[in-house]
Amino acid sequence: MSNALFLPIILGTPRKDRKSENVARWLLSQIEARDEIETQLFDVRDFDLPRDHYGTEIGANFPEWRDAIIRADGLIIVAPEYNHAYPGTLKSVLDLLLKEYIHKAVGFVGVSAQVWGGTRVIEAMVPMVRELGLIATFTDLNFPRVHTLFDDDGEMLDREFDKRAAAFLDELIWMSKTLRWGRENVSSKYHK
Ligand SMILES: Cc1cc2nc3c(=O)[nH]c(=O)nc-3n(C[C@H](O)[C@H](O)[C@H](O)COP(=O)(O)O)c2cc1C
Repeated sequence: MSNALFLPIILGTPRKDRKSENVARWLLSQIEARDEIETQLFDVRDFDLPRDHYGTEIGANFPEWRDAIIRADGLIIVAPEYNHAYPGTLKSVLDLLLKEYIHKAVGFVGVSAQVWGGTRVIEAMVPMVRELGLIATFTDLNFPRVHTLFDDDGEMLDREFDKRAAAFLDELIWMSKTLRWGRENVSSKYHK
């Protein structure tokens, strides 16, 4: 196994014309520039979710996602704020798995049209991820007024975000390394 941390990203909305896609792709490029992290971008649009089955009973139907979360040291959730909460599709995708998340880190990226940068969607996610066994960092990455931050080609217009992304990733790396050490060295009924 590579010594690099594996921190997949989930893009949390299937909405046509979503601005969160610019955020996820820009963050992907920031991560790819760092040697100590590997990542993979998942998109909730790519999950063909059935209407009549839900949750872990169909988790095995999505092996790429399941294998990635089994391998992951942490997860990055890119979530737009929809009525102060997260899109239902994101929740449906997260609900596909359970034990695979336990004792792994999660970092939140909030995206919004208004000035709060997804602060409220992040607050709404905290109790939800806790039930999944994920451990939340406290350095969020917020994208307020997201429609002003990228040009038509998806290029980031404000270089201040480079520093913010670095701080967000530094903390997520610390938490992911610490939890990896714990999973490997401290016994628990949830992992060997
Ligand atoms: C159903 C819905 C609810 C929304 N609610 C909020 C909100 O509560 N606060 C906010 O700042 N923006 C809100 N927005 C605007 C989104 O934050 C905005 O579209 C932003 O670009 C991020 O979402 P996107 O990735 O779908 O573009 C809402 C958008 C939709 C579609």
